[in-house]
Amino acid sequence: MYAGAVALTPLWLPARAGRRLGREGWFAGCSELLSLVPGRLGIFVRRSFYAMALDDCATDVHIGFGTTLAHPQVTIGRGVYVGNRGTLGMCVLEDDVTLGSNVDLLSGRRQHGFSDPSASVQSQPGAYTPVTVGRAAWVGNSCVVMADVGAGAVVGAGSVVVHGVPVGAVAVGNPATVKRTRAAA
Ligand SMILES: CC(C)(COP(=O)(O)OP(=O)(O)OC[C@H]1O[C@@H](n2cnc3c(N)ncnc32)[C@H](O)[C@@H]1OP(=O)(O)O)[C@@H](O)C(=O)NCCC(=O)NCCS
Repeated sequence: MYAGAVALTPLWLPARAGRRLGREGWFAGCSELLSLVPGRLGIFVRRSFYAMALDDCATDVHIGFGTTLAHPQVTIGRGVYVGNRGTLGMCVLEDDVTLGSNVDLLSGRRQHGFSDPSASVQSQPGAYTPVTVGRAAWVGNSCVVMADVGAGAVVGAGSVVVHGVPVGAVAVGNPATVKRTRAAA
């Protein structure tokens, strides 16, 4: 890991400097580039880069092929698995979280304002709200997550999380609703 972090200094050092200047383009570009590295080498280089470039990132994280991060304001705990082709916005992934493939984890729901119908949404300011996925939660493939997911919760494949999912719940559908609560171990 340390050798990887040293080798990737030309990527993460400018990313950290850019963040201090309010510019995250270099970070996002590096994330896209490293997302294209296949196999075990890809897991290794992404782990090495994110350990240095994010707010906080455990050194055993698995981030799959094709998954990109848009912002460095991300915290990733130990034992976290993120599948392939996902996108992560501002978020906290607590220890032992599992995200399937093709999961879009957005920075909340309001990245653009849309009160003025005569202007483009891109020109209207919005808000970025970090989303937390609680310890050991499992988010299935192809979910869109825009609100917090509680510890130990399960979100079924293809679900759209608009409201927070309670601790230990099994939630499915669009919008995701709670089907049951997992039995205590
Ligand atoms: C949610 C899941 C874990 C099953 O949980 P479960 O508690 O065993 O749920 P059940 O299979 O008993 O189904 C309960 C209900 O939810 C529905 N349901 C289950 N999964 C669903 C899904 N992904 N989307 C919509 N509805 C779903 C079932 O049809 C059933 O509905 P009903 O009560 O009206 O008949 C599973 O269906 C799932 O989506 N797994 C994710 C798989 C995945 O993405 N793997 C990627 C590898 S990380």
